[in-house]
Amino acid sequence: MVDPTQTGVTPTCPACEAPLASRADALHCPACSETVPVVDGIPRFPAPVEQPASPSVFDALASIYETPLWFPALYRLTGGPRAPIDDRATIVEALDVAGADVLDVACGTGRLTRVLAADAAAVWGIDLSLEMLRRARRDATRDGRDNVVVARMNAEELCFEDEAFEGVACGWALHLFADIPTTVAEIHRVLVPDGRVAGTTLSADGPLALPATQYGLKQTLGAHVFEREALRDLLLESGFRRVQFERYGAALFFSAAK
Ligand SMILES: C[S@@+](CC[C@H](N)C(=O)[O-])C[C@H]1O[C@@H](n2cnc3c(N)ncnc32)[C@H](O)[C@@H]1O
Ligand SMILES: [Zn+2]
Repeated sequence: MVDPTQTGVTPTCPACEAPLASRADALHCPACSETVPVVDGIPRFPAPVEQPASPSVFDALASIYETPLWFPALYRLTGGPRAPIDDRATIVEALDVAGADVLDVACGTGRLTRVLAADAAAVWGIDLSLEMLRRARRDATRDGRDNVVVARMNAEELCFEDEAFEGVACGWALHLFADIPTTVAEIHRVLVPDGRVAGTTLSADGPLALPATQYGLKQTLGAHVFEREALRDLLLESGFRRVQFERYGAALFFSAAK
């Protein structure tokens, strides 16, 4: 696992946005003396004051998330029989990550991070759930992905310089953010011109067409179910172009260029 300040991407101070430097057990801001603690190899950028519902749900799910009990079963239920066998291949293909610095927003257990890291120069995986991040760090190390950094960071407040990444991935999480337009604007900000975003989210179709199901997701996870045209409008209004979708049941794959 690489030192957070030794990838091609430098994290920035959550208080003053200056580049952070590495010190023992912390990232330190030379400009304003703010520190970001690093605990068990995971930098802890500030969490939102009002913690959204989903990270604590995912704390509890971390140990089973990648087992047949959870992600594979839910993915098939969401996408139906025609959805790609492995959702990650579609995202990686849309991004063209070879030799690139890539951000995996809401990386969870690093299911997608590890695949991105096979070809990328470096991958930063960020999430709010510490239990998911612990797994992500452990499994990236297990797989020899020494170009991965995982950090606790709010997707709505990315602590990176403008144009820091060539690609941004966001698997199964856009629907979970409390402020989706702010998150999309942040993703746009940290991408280089022509950089690409690609990911997956929930569409109001197939098994999620029923308003009662959508209501249940909102109440339990704070999750939003997208109408495809509304997501297209949001991406275009945020400055993205070449917006593309593939939908299988309620699984909506999206990609766009800055
Ligand atoms: C369904 S998991 C997706 C994990 C991974 N991307 C994948 O494809 O398997 C959703 C993740 O979003 C994270 N999350 C929710 N709100 C977040 C936020 N505001 N900032 C960062 N991560 C967030 C949760 O903690 C959880 O790990
Ligand atoms: Zn600072």
